[in-house]
Amino acid sequence: MLIRSRRGWELPESAATPEDVYLNRRQAMGAGAMLLAGLGAGTLSSPAAAQRVGDVPDPSASLYPAPRNPRYTLERPVTPEAKSSLVNNYYEFSYGKVVGPSMTRFQRRPWLVKIDGLVEKPQEMGIDDLFKKVKFEERLYRHRCVEAWSMAVPWTGFPMKDLVALAAPTSGAKYIKMETFLDPKVAPNQRDFRYTWPYVEGLTLEEATNELAFLVTGVYGKPAPNQFGAPLRLVLPWKYGFKSIKGIVRFTFTDKQPVSFWEQLQGSEYGFWANVNPKVPHPRWSQASEEDIATGERVPTVIFNGYGEYVADLYKGRETQKIWF
Ligand code: MTE
Repeated sequence: MLIRSRRGWELPESAATPEDVYLNRRQAMGAGAMLLAGLGAGTLSSPAAAQRVGDVPDPSASLYPAPRNPRYTLERPVTPEAKSSLVNNYYEFSYGKVVGPSMTRFQRRPWLVKIDGLVEKPQEMGIDDLFKKVKFEERLYRHRCVEAWSMAVPWTGFPMKDLVALAAPTSGAKYIKMETFLDPKVAPNQRDFRYTWPYVEGLTLEEATNELAFLVTGVYGKPAPNQFGAPLRLVLPWKYGFKSIKGIVRFTFTDKQPVSFWEQLQGSEYGFWANVNPKVPHPRWSQASEEDIATGERVPTVIFNGYGEYVADLYKGRETQKIWF
């Protein structure tokens, strides 16, 4: 199927793009440790690494580093930025994993954020005005992709419930639909008609106001490099990474369950909920274990990515629904 051929995370390892650090490393592992070392060194001296180090000046830079919230701890080391910034998914720009070099036309300012729908306070504001209304903090979260790789990231941002409070949803609001910017002049793959742009994601209001739902502005104690979804993205550590929409420009409160980008494309494989569960395999990937992109270690996957104590209650009574994909 045509669409399938363009979906990076569906590529068999043999078809991985040459710049894909993660898959390259896996191939290298098969070929021997010497080759592995060589590939790693080559990648870090690539243009993508230069983009990472050279982070574009950002008007919010003085807000960093934000104090770390000690409530969210990790049982494994933080993934080095040199790894995590070269293993990204941002389909608007690239179907491979090294996204930075495809983002040369991307500008993080001006950036307008719209809040509309079933709210008492519909509003549109510049991102820096939004930042004045919230308090930044840093959180260490595990990040689990449906492709069965994982990392641990120090995100900076603010709880999504603070944005919900700014909107003041009416009693009819049950869901929040989020949209990425739409500008094919900036994001070349938005011309690819096989996908329905813009990228859309959705949450229930209960999920959005759960303490873990985090709107991210920065990583590693500074404004997020573009490929991480600057200047505003979502992070939901108990769900597969595709729910964590990047480059957000709009939050619409609604009474209808939003249909997400992937769900619209392939509803038989990607649903609305997408909670991490090692016992429910995706058609192409077992979810029983995951590979740490920094160490190459394969570790067992934990239900809700280990965040069950925070979120399991959200899904009580929904057991008969397709809550795992
Ligand atoms: N958001 C947009 N707008 N476009 C995308 O292609 N990819 C998703 C998600 N958010 C994506 C997106 C997927 S598949 C994953 S795994 C995560 O972003 C990757 O986040 P990372 O690059 O910070 O690891």
